[in-house]
Amino acid sequence: ASKHLIAPSMLAADFANLQSDTEMINASAADWFHIDIMDGLFVPNISFGFPVMSAIAKHAQKPLDVHLMIEKPDRYLSEFRDAGAANITVHYEACTHLHRTIAAIKDLGCHAGVALNPHTPVHLLNDIIADIDLVCIMSVNPGFGGQKFIENTYAKIRELRAMSAGVNDNLWIEIDGGVSLNNAEALLSAGADVLVAGSFVFNSSDPVSTIQQLKDVNPE
Ligand code: DX5
Ligand code: ZN
Repeated sequence: ASKHLIAPSMLAADFANLQSDTEMINASAADWFHIDIMDGLFVPNISFGFPVMSAIAKHAQKPLDVHLMIEKPDRYLSEFRDAGAANITVHYEACTHLHRTIAAIKDLGCHAGVALNPHTPVHLLNDIIADIDLVCIMSVNPGFGGQKFIENTYAKIRELRAMSAGVNDNLWIEIDGGVSLNNAEALLSAGADVLVAGSFVFNSSDPVSTIQQLKDVNPE
């Protein structure tokens, strides 16, 4: 496997100093900006929308990995592309016609991802796994940063790795929620490719060094 990717979550950034936090990520070993969009319906919280995302995009020099925690994301896919998204990830639980939604994301020229809530089994993706670029396994219930990591995540990573082998070997398996240096090596050993980290990065005394440490983790 090639080197894993690190995607700091801007949900934990200082929203009054987004330009400096964006430039900090630019200067770090991070690979993507993880952008958490919440609508107050799919999840019990509201984060930020297009103006704030565009403000980050204006300064960001790395791809924006957009995680849509919103109902019926089909309504807004082109707006997110126009606001600077490179990857658009929708929730399995929020899409009635997931196959159509994935096709629409790809038609916009973006990578297409599907996120799974902690209770949603990996095998539900069996009939769409060949068509998607990324699966985001939620390792907390979406809606808030700083929550406790759910241990069942490892089993889901291993199952998804086995399910995608030979069918979609370029699939990115992304882990989102409660990621830190305490679990990064185990997550990568289980088969993760992308680690999202919010509070662990931004609450540390030296975020650039914390990102480097996450990037330098060597799995078995
Ligand atoms: C949770 C978001 C996550 C969150 C992760 O709903 O999807 O991306 O920002 O935050 P931490 O790393 O603090 O758990
Ligand atoms: Zn997220």
